[in-house]
Amino acid sequence: MATPASPGKERPFLTDIQTLRARARQHIERGAITESYRADRETVVRLLNEALATEIVCTLRYRRHYFMAVGINADAVAEEFLQHANEEQGHADRIAARIVQLNGEPNFNPEGLATRSHAEYVEGTSLEEMIREDLVAERIAIDSYREIIGYLGDRDTTTKRMMEDILAVEEEHADDLVSLLEKLKP
Ligand SMILES: [Fe+2]
Ligand SMILES: [Fe+2]
Repeated sequence: MATPASPGKERPFLTDIQTLRARARQHIERGAITESYRADRETVVRLLNEALATEIVCTLRYRRHYFMAVGINADAVAEEFLQHANEEQGHADRIAARIVQLNGEPNFNPEGLATRSHAEYVEGTSLEEMIREDLVAERIAIDSYREIIGYLGDRDTTTKRMMEDILAVEEEHADDLVSLLEKLKP
């Protein structure tokens, strides 16, 4: 009869089952945050709260633009603003949920919101100015989210994957806005 290979030799990079089971029983109040969580939780929560503020500011700005869009091309543009506003709201929700999962608290305090946000709240007067400002805000979000993703690396792959999903949508938003600007050209 062949002697069973030692688990350590078979799976050199995996923690043995006994240790895994014992570890999982410690600090169960931390929920999804287990011993092997390798990111600095507080930093991740802080970065996510900045991203949350960015999404809220973007939601508000797009909603304002949706209601204020007037002029010959307003209908199509307003539809796009509304769609973006709703998608930013969805991003805010996902980020807030992840913050809670990380045992943090999502910051929805309107005080200081604009300062916490990476992107700015610019009302804009003309349709073109609104689109331009939205495009600038998207480009800011794209850059800062890419930085967050780089920071997360393989330390917190769940948060990283979420931010990658969101980044892809912000890139689409930027693309949509460029197309709208093109269409507005006389
Ligand atoms: Fe977003
Ligand atoms: Fe966006």
